Amino acid sequence: MFVVRGGRPLRGRVSVSGAKNAALPIMAAALSARGTTLLRGVPELVDVSTLSQVLQSLGMTVERHADGTLALTAEDDQRCLADYELVRRMRASVCVLGPLLGRRGRACVSLPGGCNIGHRPIDLHLKGLRALGAEITIDRGYVFAKADQLIGTDIYLGGSFGSTVTGTCNVLCAAVFAKGTTTISSAACEPEVVDLGNYLNEMGARIEGLGTPFLRIEGVEELNAVEHTVIPDRIEAATLLVAAAITGGCLQIDNVEPTHLAAVFDVLRMMGVGIEISGKSLTVIAPDKLRSLDVTALPYPGIPTDVQAQLTALLSLANGISVVTDKIFPDRFMHIPELMRMGANVRREGASSIISGIGTLTGACVMASDLRASAALLLAALAADGESVIRRVYHLDRGYERLERKLNDVGADIERVIDLPENMPHSLQLSVEEQRPLAIDSSDVPAPKFLSRAEAARQRAES
Ligand code: EPZ
Repeated sequence: MFVVRGGRPLRGRVSVSGAKNAALPIMAAALSARGTTLLRGVPELVDVSTLSQVLQSLGMTVERHADGTLALTAEDDQRCLADYELVRRMRASVCVLGPLLGRRGRACVSLPGGCNIGHRPIDLHLKGLRALGAEITIDRGYVFAKADQLIGTDIYLGGSFGSTVTGTCNVLCAAVFAKGTTTISSAACEPEVVDLGNYLNEMGARIEGLGTPFLRIEGVEELNAVEHTVIPDRIEAATLLVAAAITGGCLQIDNVEPTHLAAVFDVLRMMGVGIEISGKSLTVIAPDKLRSLDVTALPYPGIPTDVQAQLTALLSLANGISVVTDKIFPDRFMHIPELMRMGANVRREGASSIISGIGTLTGACVMASDLRASAALLLAALAADGESVIRRVYHLDRGYERLERKLNDVGADIERVIDLPENMPHSLQLSVEEQRPLAIDSSDVPAPKFLSRAEAARQRAES
């Protein structure tokens, strides 16, 4: 868990890592290459090591060189099973489906299970692969897919919530090996899909229309390994922008692709945040007062759903009423009750949250439920008066590289400790004096348990 001492404006310079959501499908697509793929800018994250294990189970070697480059080589191309034990740990493992089917002609991939941010089916992935001629069955929780030769065709990938990011990646990775021409309409336009497409083209694929909803793919027989640098993480950049704004600070943020962040700049500027762009760097200056605003998360180039929770934390301190709507994951609001523990005034209404801005948040003990919810709670804790505890920060480790170190380097006070009673700050516990008037029988009031480390270790050993 994190113990965060809030109320410190962040000042200084910080650099963004490579994009998790580009790195994962690109690593999976390396299954398709002959030879050794060298990827630069792959962040060191739990999700990256989980996918590395999936790829190793599929006959690849995955090594991190001293300079940070990730080297991937397909040694054994007979293996096609992505097991439940690995896939259940990370949904993005489903990205191996398209490359396996395209390159090896068959795949058996565990269906990803439930998820904290809402219902996440993969029907569109399967629709696209079936259209290419794959025979697909679902049996005992696994997707079995096979095709001796995929055949190019016209595919429509739109669903009730727009296109699908990893679905487009899967269909693209299969279609590059299909005989003839494939078109994908309503393809996802996210920069991470474009990065994957560019990487496939560098390997010898023939994809046109990247970054638009219409893709045209001429099938090829093989792809050769190349070196590729993953794009900067636009979601991490947006999280750092909010960190500066929410703490009343001023940050220079390096390694940013500003064109990927137009919608985020727009809403932050409308809230009063100062943003200056200089090449691949940004300077962000918090305003004296934040203005309220209505924000809707939409497919790219709209506001990303992956920034919705962080913006909610920021708007909880803005002057006035804001409405935040998520049109991609309408149930992605697990952060709301936790923000309310810090004093935020938020009401959930269907796919929206209605936020009535308050002057200050107060430190509290809160629980992270998913990656971006953890980021939102961390941001709120950085701004809050007093100490906060954020539990289950393993969610954060899945998608942000060394975030607490980066934030501490620019003035935050975040301590990573083991989630044990003795590590709970005293300031977050009710004293006997506070509890006594609240108890019916004052003799019921338990003394607060501030165990010494030695005593806690002794009790654990005994139990
Ligand atoms: C990707 O998930 C990202 N993950 C998510 O990042 C991100 O929130 C999401 O895109 C939206 O931008 C990776 O890139 C690894 P979708 P993905 O398929 O591809 C519905 C993060 O925090 N849908 O684009 O799984 C779906 O339910 C995360 O880093 C179908 O109906 O998302 C949702 O409402 C979490 N059928 C919408 O489409 C399908 O077959 C968009 O989902 C597929 C999706």
